[in-house]
Amino acid sequence: MSQNKRETSAIYIQGAMFVCSRRGPRLSIIFSLSILLFAACMYVWIIRYVTIASASRQPEVVPSSVLTDTNRHSNNVANEVNVVIAADFQYIQGLPPLIHSILANTRNLDNIRIHIVVCDYPVDNLLQYLECNDIRINKTLQVTQFTDSIISTNIRAAWTKIFMARRLSSVCNYARAYLHRLLPGVSKVIFIDADTLVLSPIEDLWAESKIHKTPFQAVARLSSYEKDFILRDVSPIYHKRFGTYINGSLNTFSAGLFVMDLNYYREHNLVDEVEFWLIKQTESRHPLWQLDCQSIFQLVYYNKWDRLSDIWSRFPSSVMLDNFSGIRGSIHWSGKPKPWMEFGTFSKAWKKYRPSECSGHGVCQNAENRTDWYCACNDFYHGTLCQHK
Ligand SMILES: *[C@@H]1O[C@H](CO)[C@@H](O)[C@H](O)[C@H]1NC(C)=O
Ligand SMILES: *[C@@H]1O[C@H](CO)[C@@H](O)[C@H](O)[C@H]1NC(C)=O
Ligand SMILES: *[C@@H]1O[C@H](CO)[C@@H](O)[C@H](O)[C@H]1NC(C)=O
Ligand SMILES: *[C@@H]1O[C@H](CO)[C@@H](O)[C@H](O)[C@H]1NC(C)=O
Repeated sequence: MSQNKRETSAIYIQGAMFVCSRRGPRLSIIFSLSILLFAACMYVWIIRYVTIASASRQPEVVPSSVLTDTNRHSNNVANEVNVVIAADFQYIQGLPPLIHSILANTRNLDNIRIHIVVCDYPVDNLLQYLECNDIRINKTLQVTQFTDSIISTNIRAAWTKIFMARRLSSVCNYARAYLHRLLPGVSKVIFIDADTLVLSPIEDLWAESKIHKTPFQAVARLSSYEKDFILRDVSPIYHKRFGTYINGSLNTFSAGLFVMDLNYYREHNLVDEVEFWLIKQTESRHPLWQLDCQSIFQLVYYNKWDRLSDIWSRFPSSVMLDNFSGIRGSIHWSGKPKPWMEFGTFSKAWKKYRPSECSGHGVCQNAENRTDWYCACNDFYHGTLCQHK
């Protein structure tokens, strides 16, 4: 940008020289030229300074272009509870129990929309997997494909760089930062990781979120900015951008389940903030924080979030060994092992939320190329869902 301005100024000076040379005495030409040159330099300098200064602040004026799509489905949004589940291939087995737990415990199915965001996997194959588990897409359940085409090239490059040697090595982790584009008609969402079960009506969580005025609600982590971040490096960057320092002793939150105001996200261009931190991380010689996308959200929503009641992100514990009866809220298997794994924790109780896989007479398997799913039936059973004897 400043490059263009510099060129413009140069043209302006040439033009002035032409006008001056028609006027007469040599000295006055040189004098006028110096004045013009000085003015041009000042102009370029001021423009550059203003551009840099304004880029380092959050945009305060809402660009109208980002607001256009928000009310597309306005006829039915008033009471609609929009739930987003993002599932990459590693977590696919968490989907049927999570979906089933939400549907089984909801008060009114008509008000629920569940958006499954598929990332590193073909939609067709996800549908096969769900069908194997007797779940079909309908008005309640919808699938949205997250492709990195909705992200600019330089950000994609930053991703590739950042995921080289990291723990949560999946671009899908960042799908939650692009929900405003993936779900253009939706103004607010509940986001749930696929390694979760929801055991209370999801409407209760929706109602709880409405009490708060902040654009983001989540369950607090037993951790702080001091512990989750390398504040020595992050604080100066934060201060430069926002003019305030991070209070390291404040709690951070878990981004495994959260409620997010997408209109606020659109209006304040928060995606720019996510991408800003993503780039900072790639520019740094060592990691600035521990938890990838979760940490970036913790920075973006620093001082802008409220706590949800702790019941919405319980760890599985020994009181839940056989079943989850009497448990309210939701259970999150954060970390490993996941309940679907061979030595998964609390799998017995979790399996009760698995709807009838292959009619209860087989196992949903994937072919060696890891895409096609089919029912492998037990002895004496056949049919695509092992439904015949
Ligand atoms: C949509 O599918 C789910 C799971 O298969 C089912 O529980 C629900 O009743 C269906 N909803 C409608 C509106 O058909
Ligand atoms: C930082 O947060 C803690 C915990 O809420 C609070 O007690 C303290 O006063 C805050 N410090 C500053 C400088 O705001
Ligand atoms: C669930 O577990 C509790 C405690 O482990 C037990 O008392 C109860 O009978 C179980 N309920 C069912 C339906 O299995
Ligand atoms: C995956 O394997 C199945 C069976 O082995 C085959 O029918 C299918 O075409 C394969 N899909 C791809 C994408 O290679």
